[in-house]
Amino acid sequence: MPDALIPSFLYGTAWKEDRTASLTMLALQAGFRGIDTANQRRHYFESGVGEALSSAYAAGVLTRAEVFLQTKFTYQRGQDHRLPYDPSESLTVKVAQSLASSLEHLGTDYVDSYLLHGPSSNYDWTEADTEVWEAMRKERDAGRTHRLGVSNVSLQHLEQMKAAGAEMPAFVQNRCFARLGWDREIRSFCREHKIIYQGFSLLTANPEVLEHAPFVDVARELSATPAQAVFAFAQAVGILPLTGTSNADHMKQDLASLELTLPPDVVKAIECMAG
Ligand SMILES: NC(=O)c1ccc[n+]([C@@H]2O[C@H](COP(=O)([O-])OP(=O)(O)OC[C@H]3O[C@@H](n4cnc5c(N)ncnc54)[C@H](OP(=O)(O)O)[C@@H]3O)[C@@H](O)[C@H]2O)c1
Repeated sequence: MPDALIPSFLYGTAWKEDRTASLTMLALQAGFRGIDTANQRRHYFESGVGEALSSAYAAGVLTRAEVFLQTKFTYQRGQDHRLPYDPSESLTVKVAQSLASSLEHLGTDYVDSYLLHGPSSNYDWTEADTEVWEAMRKERDAGRTHRLGVSNVSLQHLEQMKAAGAEMPAFVQNRCFARLGWDREIRSFCREHKIIYQGFSLLTANPEVLEHAPFVDVARELSATPAQAVFAFAQAVGILPLTGTSNADHMKQDLASLELTLPPDVVKAIECMAG
């Protein structure tokens, strides 16, 4: 079974509406080999991603096996009226319908990773989540996704999942706040359980770091921009970063940041810079 290697950077496709296809194509041409989307029409235009993929395959930019595709199952409370499933069905059926619709949007018969977009409660891992997770596992066992993950989770969610004897996810995808030590507690749980931590809003959630004089100096010493220094830092501490840039130069800069090496003492200092 083809299995794209997990790339070092994910290109995020949220909030791009009619520009989703052209920006995703641009990202693939720039060299991104990981795409993050969701079957949540409110924030993502998944079939636009599929359109870009089909153009990229036709133009010889890459093959299906060379791209890591990740999408998500979103509960109804996170959706608008454009649902990817029948709302009267059980959660188990909704997961199957949502993933089938994602595969159709993306023009493929499997994704590399399938995430639960967020647990049903902000506090606890609930029975609903257990049902959804079990349905996602069935999809994985049937080969329609290679790996599973959870997003927007707290340490409590993960600990409750573990206590319930659930299979641990391959990925956690969270908003990464520098003032929380860049999600220190969750990253530590992930390390302990061999889970890959994906961080989003690395730039937008952390303006206080990007503008902090010592941080700007670090970037200058690397001959990099502060944005690039954040992504280089993320990579150094084992965060798989997402970017959703709409700018072709930023796409190149974001990918180039992976070549930057930060000295270990600088990495430590950035980790504690805001919290
Ligand atoms: N699981 C979830 O609930 C969830 C939630 C939010 C996001 N996500 C995923 O994460 C992806 C990324 O979202 P995000 O919140 O991290 O970012 P984002 O909303 O795409 O914003 C990134 C911002 O950083 C700027 N930027 C990027 N590279 C830059 C550079 N090199 N120099 C200067 N500015 C730069 C972009 O501006 P330019 O466009 O001008 O470059 C943009 O304003 C989304 O598309 C989605 O796939 C998931």
